[in-house]
Amino acid sequence: MENRLVSLLILTVSMLCCTGRNLATVNRCQDCGHTPVPYPLSTSPDCGNQHYKVRCHAGSLWFDALNSSSYLITSINPLTRRLIIRPPGLANNVTCMSADFKSQGLILDDNLPFNITSSNTVIGMNCSYEMLTLSKNCSSNSLCHDYIKHNAMAASACGCFQICCLFKTGGSTNAYKIGVMKERCSAYESFVNLDSFSGPLNSWPESGVEMMWESPREPECKVSVDCRGLSNSECLVDRSGQRRCLCKTGFQWDPINAICQSLIIAAVAMLLGASLAFIVYKRREKKIARAAHFSLTKSREDILNANNNTGKSAKLFTGKEITRATKNFSKDYVLGAGGFGEVFKGVLDDGTITAVKRAQPGNTKGMDQILNEVRILCQVSHRSLVRLMGCCLELEQPLLIYEYIPNGTLFEHLHGNYNTANRVSLTWRMRLTIAHQTAEGLAYLHDSVTPRIYHRDIKSSNILLDKMLNSKVADFGLSRLAVAESSHITTCAQGSFGYLDPDYYLNFQLTDKSDVYSYGVVLLELLTSKKAIDFNREEEDVNLVVYVKNTLKEERLMDAVDPRLKEGAGIVELETMKEFASLALACLDERRQNRPSMKEVADEIQYIIGIVTNEDSATY
Ligand SMILES: *[C@@H]1O[C@H](CO)[C@@H](O)[C@H](O)[C@H]1NC(C)=O
Ligand SMILES: *[C@@H]1O[C@H](CO)[C@@H](O)[C@H](O)[C@H]1NC(C)=O
Ligand SMILES: *[C@@H]1O[C@H](CO)[C@@H](O)[C@H](O)[C@H]1NC(C)=O
Ligand SMILES: *[C@@H]1O[C@H](CO)[C@@H](O)[C@H](O)[C@H]1NC(C)=O
Ligand SMILES: *[C@@H]1O[C@H](CO)[C@@H](O)[C@H](O)[C@H]1NC(C)=O
Ligand SMILES: [Mg+2]
Repeated sequence: MENRLVSLLILTVSMLCCTGRNLATVNRCQDCGHTPVPYPLSTSPDCGNQHYKVRCHAGSLWFDALNSSSYLITSINPLTRRLIIRPPGLANNVTCMSADFKSQGLILDDNLPFNITSSNTVIGMNCSYEMLTLSKNCSSNSLCHDYIKHNAMAASACGCFQICCLFKTGGSTNAYKIGVMKERCSAYESFVNLDSFSGPLNSWPESGVEMMWESPREPECKVSVDCRGLSNSECLVDRSGQRRCLCKTGFQWDPINAICQSLIIAAVAMLLGASLAFIVYKRREKKIARAAHFSLTKSREDILNANNNTGKSAKLFTGKEITRATKNFSKDYVLGAGGFGEVFKGVLDDGTITAVKRAQPGNTKGMDQILNEVRILCQVSHRSLVRLMGCCLELEQPLLIYEYIPNGTLFEHLHGNYNTANRVSLTWRMRLTIAHQTAEGLAYLHDSVTPRIYHRDIKSSNILLDKMLNSKVADFGLSRLAVAESSHITTCAQGSFGYLDPDYYLNFQLTDKSDVYSYGVVLLELLTSKKAIDFNREEEDVNLVVYVKNTLKEERLMDAVDPRLKEGAGIVELETMKEFASLALACLDERRQNRPSMKEVADEIQYIIGIVTNEDSATY
């Protein structure tokens, strides 16, 4: 029924349109290569409307702006009177300057009928401090940093440590220009309708600047022959005193088709057209919504399984399953919250308990990190790493489903309140085992996975303990696959205060040895039961590493050791504590080349455990 109605409408409307087309129309320009040039755009003096000049060169359309800069036109929509141009990008991958820096960016002639629409999101890079005072988003969590990180050229030229800003066009200040200059930003990129782009933001959409043109008036004329091209029009003086080919009575100027449309036909056509448009719109709306949902899920799956040649793909859980497991994400099921969002306890139908991680709504950074995390964790499998069971991509935000580790974090065990949580104080032997297992898990990440993985956020709160107090390293949110060819990766500052490799501040490189450093801090926590950063300590001792190094300098290292460990410890145990301390300090060496590898650390701790165990069996 609906189908037949639609075909009937199409037939009627097309008949009416053809009646219109048969009339002589204002001269539309020839196609440029394969690209149609709709009215009023003009590629030459004898077609289109001369106020709407574009340039056809080598089969492509170009938009010429002021100061002789020129932009490729990538799409044109005559019905909405919009076109999209391609921003010029960076001049090269060494300096952070736009290719149109010399012409001060994209500047339109405000006497012409084109302006920049409000649909563009502009990312300004290499910005001056002055930008911070303007109403742009130049904060450290602005999306512009994410863009720079994910664009190889921008990352190379614009780095991570400059000011970048994000703003929308559409105000009076940028209706006619996206300026670049030393005093503002020296480079820019732009995206159309970024808000409605729902794909994962680690693949940014194609760049573009959307512009709009004013609806064209009737063509200008001098004498009546000039209007021969427009049927049912006469050359008359309009209200502003300009001579134009005005439509005769009973006809109306149609600026899209550039014809004088009969008012009766126009009215009928409009009515039918509107009902047709409505039906088609309704059907398309449904189809688009379905297709968008499908393509979103698909692209997430693609990311998830990219580079996954081990064949260990995560199980895809359904939205219903997880909603049920978490009692619809009930508050009672919240286990914790991290930088990425929340963690819920989830009880699957078969009774398995899981930890469900959910990204914060609208937190694209978090979503990005999560997808990254899934892909990495799908490929690794080690008894000292938290196991990823699968993920769920059906709900609004992606979810990760991990095995549930029931016994809290190492941080809680070392620094928490033992009495309330009926947790026993960790013995020296337990701490050695935790250190050893953690080292093995990290050594596996560094040496046994290709490409190797750096954790990048090792700290005691990312080390979980199971019922038997076995260590499980968690939270790979910050880790990233190292680029295969190079032995280091350049990146923006990540990691946690108190654990970050100081060498990083000198050359901005994170290597496996940065993980070794952070791990060394965890060793000190195990030895001293003191927090990595504690502002309750004396000023010079706030940082645990500095604190322990100071006690070493003053030759009273054993003073720093947790009194509960020293209590009742034999000579051999005390010696192993010293050995352990010097291993930690080797991990914390300021020159990263002097630090041992994770594998060497694991072996050394194994050796220390051997000594303690022999001592135990000798005593009995
Ligand atoms: C670019 O055009 C603007 C506006 O016409 C003008 O003020 C400016 O001086 C021009 N800059 C260059 C480098 O030509
Ligand atoms: C920068 O460009 C040069 C040549 O155009 C190329 O050899 C080099 O690999 C590029 N560097 C990066 C980091 O993209
Ligand atoms: C930033 O832009 C200025 C010009 O405004 C340029 O001289 C400088 O090299 C750019 N900085 C970087 C890191 O490319
Ligand atoms: C800047 O953008 C970030 C992320 O998009 C957002 O969280 C923050 O609130 C914005 N800040 C301002 C001042 O708009
Ligand atoms: C651009 O021009 C159109 C008319 O052609 C107008 O409706 C719109 O408000 C203008 N946009 C801006 C940002 O000035
Ligand atoms: Mg964490």
